[in-house]
Formats: sequence, structure tokens, C-alpha cells
Amino acid sequence: MQKITIAVDGYSSCGKSTTAKRVASKLGYSYIDTGAMYRSVTLYFLEHHITLTNDKEVEKALENIDIEFRRNPNDGRNETFLNGLNVEDEIRKLYIADKVSEVSSIAAVRHAMVAQQRRMGKKKGVVMDGRDIGTVVFPDAELKIFMTADPVIRATRRQIELAEKGEMVDLEDILENLKKRDLIDTTRKESPLRKADDAIEVDTSYITFDEQVDAVCLLVDEAV
Ligand code: C5P
Repeated sequence: MQKITIAVDGYSSCGKSTTAKRVASKLGYSYIDTGAMYRSVTLYFLEHHITLTNDKEVEKALENIDIEFRRNPNDGRNETFLNGLNVEDEIRKLYIADKVSEVSSIAAVRHAMVAQQRRMGKKKGVVMDGRDIGTVVFPDAELKIFMTADPVIRATRRQIELAEKGEMVDLEDILENLKKRDLIDTTRKESPLRKADDAIEVDTSYITFDEQVDAVCLLVDEAV
């Protein structure tokens, strides 16, 4: 069967990555978590005390950043490596979520990440999730999904996810972080989060994870 490019965009914590990951594994496609790339850049910038307003410093730092995804041989989990180090757990923490939207609104950061994402997805047979995949990275993607969900439901899901990893955070703090990120992501000058005209909206507020996956797989069947 012909392989296609599937773009999954939407607000923070709508279930984009879990759904995209499962859909990719069902189809035998590769999965690329572009949020993990922006989170890794944020981690690097924080660790190296990069001044976000200093263009030269930012550009130089970007030259020293190498991000790759590797499959864990034990559990098959897709993990993010920053300059050879496994940062999968670190980049999911709230202190990174607090800063990532600011970092990802920098034009030079976006240009570097978009170029890498295009290289990673050029062979098709890819499910890529993020904020600008259907609008900027792959505007010709055969299938574009735009995920939404009620903010309180999103925050509750994220709280459970963090708790499972041992990070206990107040619901209010998570909700505030989601709203702050959504606001920055949708209003930034450089490729703001918006639904592509030809994207199909999937509201995940009141459907189960399996139903989300089924809904997307059905759309894939129609698109190929
Ligand atoms: O998807 P995730 O919540 O991990 O993304 C973290 C942040 O990275 C988003 O809030 C957004 O600021 C940024 N991002 C982006 N463009 C993408 C993916 C993520 O700006 N394609």
C-alpha cells in the first residue's frame, strides 16, 4: 500500500503523541515527536545558560545541538537523545514545559528544527506530531489531523502522566502551564499554531484512547 505523510497538530496535552505513536506502530510507519525536539533545545539552552535574546549565542548553540530518536531495545519505547545522552525523562518535566514555548518562538530555533523534521520525514510513511506540521513542515501531507480537547481534561491527563513518572504537580499549575503555552503557541509571529484549512478536527475530550486511534486509522484508510 502507498505510504503517506500524516500530520498531527493541536494544543498541548490533547493526546497527540500517544495517538500518533500508536497509529504509527499499527501502520508500520515511523513516528516523530517534534515537541521532544523543541523540549531538547530548551534543555540545552537552560543547561548552557543561553540568552534567548542574543541571536549569535542562539545560532552558535543550535550548531552544537544534535537530536535523534532511538528505539529502546527492551520496551520498544521511542526515546529522545540530545548530543548522545538519553533525555527522554528530563524533557518531560514541568520546568522544561515552562520554558519551551518561549524557546520555540525563536525564528532561528524553528528554522533549524523544521529543516531537520523535513529531512526525517522525506521518505513518507511517517506520523509527525507538533504544532505546525500540517501548515509549515509538510503542507502537502496527505492527511492532517487537528486535535483539540477541553483544557481541564487535558490538564488532568497530564497530571496523571506526570504522577506516573513520580512528579506530583497541582492541577492548577498544569492548567496554567497549558494555557500559557497555548497562548504563546497560537500568537507567536513565527509559524503560530493554527488548524490548516484542510485539516480534520478530532476532539478527544470525551473519547477513549482506543477510540482516538480508531478515528485516526479510519481517516488514514480514507486518505490512502
Ligand atoms: O508537543 P509538546 O507539548 O511536547 O510540545 C512542547 C512545546 O514545543 C509546545 O508547547 C510548543 O511551544 C513547541 N512546539 C512547537 N512546534 C512543534 C512542536 C512543539 O512550537 N511542531
